[in-house]
Amino acid sequence: ADSLNIAVIGGDGIGPEVVAEGLKVLSAATGSAGPKVSTTEYDLGARRWHATGETLPDSVLEELRGHDAILLGAIGDPTVPSGVLERGVLLPLRFALDHYVNLRPARLYAGATSPLAVERVAPNGIDFVVVREGTEGPYVGNGGGLRVGTPHEIATEVSVNTRFGVERVVRDAFSRAAARERKHLTLVHKHNVLTHAGHLWRRTVEEVGAEFPQVSTDYLHVDAATIFLTTDPGRFDVIVTDNLFGDIITDIAAAIAGGIGLAASGNINPERTTPSMFEPVHGSAPDIAGQGKADPTATILSVSMLLEHLGRTEEAARVEQAVAADLAERGAATRTTTEIGDAITARL
Ligand code: IPM
Ligand code: MN
Repeated sequence: ADSLNIAVIGGDGIGPEVVAEGLKVLSAATGSAGPKVSTTEYDLGARRWHATGETLPDSVLEELRGHDAILLGAIGDPTVPSGVLERGVLLPLRFALDHYVNLRPARLYAGATSPLAVERVAPNGIDFVVVREGTEGPYVGNGGGLRVGTPHEIATEVSVNTRFGVERVVRDAFSRAAARERKHLTLVHKHNVLTHAGHLWRRTVEEVGAEFPQVSTDYLHVDAATIFLTTDPGRFDVIVTDNLFGDIITDIAAAIAGGIGLAASGNINPERTTPSMFEPVHGSAPDIAGQGKADPTATILSVSMLLEHLGRTEEAARVEQAVAADLAERGAATRTTTEIGDAITARL
């Protein structure tokens, strides 16, 4: 069989612990008959920064480019000033590798617990996916401070939305919607206030939508979207939105679909000109790091997304089924990170 070259970035906090379980599952899923999986670990995050002052050296970025995909745990640590690792490691990876589709599924599996009264607010279940733009918006770092620290301080963070960037992510969201059963796409924005960007997004959805007559569309302001995400989450099929709105609503989406410990994501370059990067939606959770308390399920589901992206559809489905089976029987018992990883591995 062929081979898979995976770069592994455990990162900070619980990152290395959950990634270790993800790797166990990856090798069990691919098995002896499958592709030969080789993994290379890269030391990025707080440890490296403290030791060397480096965040993402060019040489590491170049090596990462040579892989088929990247599996990442989490980046961010309270011993490093806020923003240094986020702006120095995670965002440069997403930007340099042109991960313009940040794909975040929200699916409530049987056995997972939603804080919502699901029988009442989503009798047909919760199963939607957020296509979050990953390379633009207020994340680009186009901002600055004037007269910092004075009573006349001015801080700006300019949200950059290009027609090129909006169009490609909107087209990707439409094609994902077209491949799903309900074929429905919701644009989430705030065009009543962010009139420039909002109208660009709206016009683009209208224009690209002409290529997808089978997909129905609607629009929600982001504030209203947070209401419906909690009162009527079953209405959503595919959501497309900008980088910051997508960041915020995918935490709500994770919460309603069983918790942040289950939420997987892919930073995807659909053209496959660069390796895509798969990571749990959660952060480094320094408060529970090293205690075996972190749930590796989000990382394991991210491994399933990685396999799917690399065309290993069958292995991807088996990982997801193993997770679903584990969740269905999970109950209230408390298990360690390793125990959960082992139990899911054993089902493969
Ligand atoms: C996420 C995280 C990141 C983001 C941070 C750590 C930069 O919150 O992946 O959702 O805002 O994208
Ligand atoms: Mn986030």
